[in-house]
Amino acid sequence: AAFAALGASPSAFAAKPLVIGFSQVGAESEWRTANTVSIKDAAKQAGVTLKFADAQQKQENQVKAIRSFIAQKVDVIAFSPVVESGWDTVLREAKAAKIPVVLTDRAVNVSDTSLYVTFIGSDFVEEGRRAGKWLLERAAKTPDANLNIVELQGTVGSAPAIDRKKGFEEVIAANPRLKVIRSQTGDFTRAKGKEVMEAFLKAEGKKINVLYAHNDDMAIGAIQAIEEAGLKPGTDIVVISIDGVKGAFEAMIAGKLNVTVECSPLLGPQLMQIARDVVAGKPVPKRITTVEGVFPAEVAAKEFPNRKY
Ligand code: AHR
Repeated sequence: AAFAALGASPSAFAAKPLVIGFSQVGAESEWRTANTVSIKDAAKQAGVTLKFADAQQKQENQVKAIRSFIAQKVDVIAFSPVVESGWDTVLREAKAAKIPVVLTDRAVNVSDTSLYVTFIGSDFVEEGRRAGKWLLERAAKTPDANLNIVELQGTVGSAPAIDRKKGFEEVIAANPRLKVIRSQTGDFTRAKGKEVMEAFLKAEGKKINVLYAHNDDMAIGAIQAIEEAGLKPGTDIVVISIDGVKGAFEAMIAGKLNVTVECSPLLGPQLMQIARDVVAGKPVPKRITTVEGVFPAEVAAKEFPNRKY
């Protein structure tokens, strides 16, 4: 009644909800699905209006989405860039429109870092190093054998594919018995992981001792290919992957995957907080790195009930 007396509706006095435009990579993996759920749930909980666009793993779709967010004058643009390069122009457009940009999960390669406010996500090079360290330790137990590795890379040109390869290579260089004999992209999907592993097996057969997959989904696809080839994943071929999704824990409990290096997709709450801080004019760190662990098969059954994605 008081509002009516003033000639205004109650909503006119309520704070305007924050509007975030978010451009997601796609739905290529179990990890990505969990990341999308985390962002949508966190937005709901924080009372943020989320404009969500799925780019289906295509940079051109992300550029279009960002331009549409600029046209809609959202408060904050957030996105997880499918690839690292090619963002300068559209990010300059966002800057000219005075809309702050927050990167989540994946980094961009731009000459001017003022084009984004902050980057929230994992240290992918470190994840690659952790995978490499696990293998070095394992290799130390069989000092006479050479270990031939096949690598399933993530999406070509994406930060996690570039960095996970780099970190792994850096560490395994310490042991000349460890050799990557084949390396190809499986685009972070189960289907491609399986298909490429089939090709690796056809070409190299029993020469393969280790599979290093840049994510769990490709490893799970490859595990199927290994079984169909009459070999035992986890035993005949050591399988190493990254993410720590539930599917990976199930594979470890079944003895088919040897280790997963954690990469957390649960970035939603941090994104909402940072977006609020940025709009309120508070200073935010340029880089916010996710804290993560390594889960070898030996701890999988104990850890499984604690997994959130
Ligand atoms: O950018 C993170 C990576 O993208 C995850 O490791 C992978 O599963 C996802 O598709």
